[in-house]
Amino acid sequence: MNTRRFSLIDRGLGEIDKAIKVLTTHPRSARALPAAPVEQALPEIQRTLSARLMRVNHSGEVAAQALYHGQALTAGDAAVSAAMQHAAAEEADHLAWCELRLRELNGRTSILNPLWYAGSFVIGALAGALGRGASLGFVAETERQVEAHLRSHVQRLGGADPRSRAILEQMTHDEIQHGAQATSLGGKQLPFPVAAAMRLASRLMTRGSY
Ligand SMILES: [Fe+2]
Ligand SMILES: [Fe+2]
Repeated sequence: MNTRRFSLIDRGLGEIDKAIKVLTTHPRSARALPAAPVEQALPEIQRTLSARLMRVNHSGEVAAQALYHGQALTAGDAAVSAAMQHAAAEEADHLAWCELRLRELNGRTSILNPLWYAGSFVIGALAGALGRGASLGFVAETERQVEAHLRSHVQRLGGADPRSRAILEQMTHDEIQHGAQATSLGGKQLPFPVAAAMRLASRLMTRGSY
């Protein structure tokens, strides 16, 4: 067995380890939760709605981890890899915040998360292999779609659940930065059918997790 085979196996095991961590552990955030402590319990109808929305967002962040891990695996560009790593760290905060809020709301995470992880990892790895412009363009388009989706959730929450809302607003702010960074590093506009297919996939995930 040669060194190259060893390193391939190592990388494969490393990726499995990352996937298991995302899917099974309670992640810790580097930044504090961007929200004031809970003051009072929400009415049952609002609690159910908030838990559903946060479950969708948690699944989205599971998928984001997989996308970034997949891309980092196949992207050959050091600057791109560094940008992905920085974004992935912030995405890890998002994952931790969503999970924590979901637990506070007595909600559970989606049982479909392994599926979203696997699918997103493959898509990320394919995007990473397409080269710098397409790969970063893919990140920019993803973040644009996530931003639009988060804004719609903020609107649905209105003033009824300020704690969840504060989390989603900070996430929106971060996703805008990720998208802008990808564009400034050379991300190209994706062809319309690709962007439309991505929207369709995210709608599928939103429905499945809701
Ligand atoms: Fe995120
Ligand atoms: Fe992001």
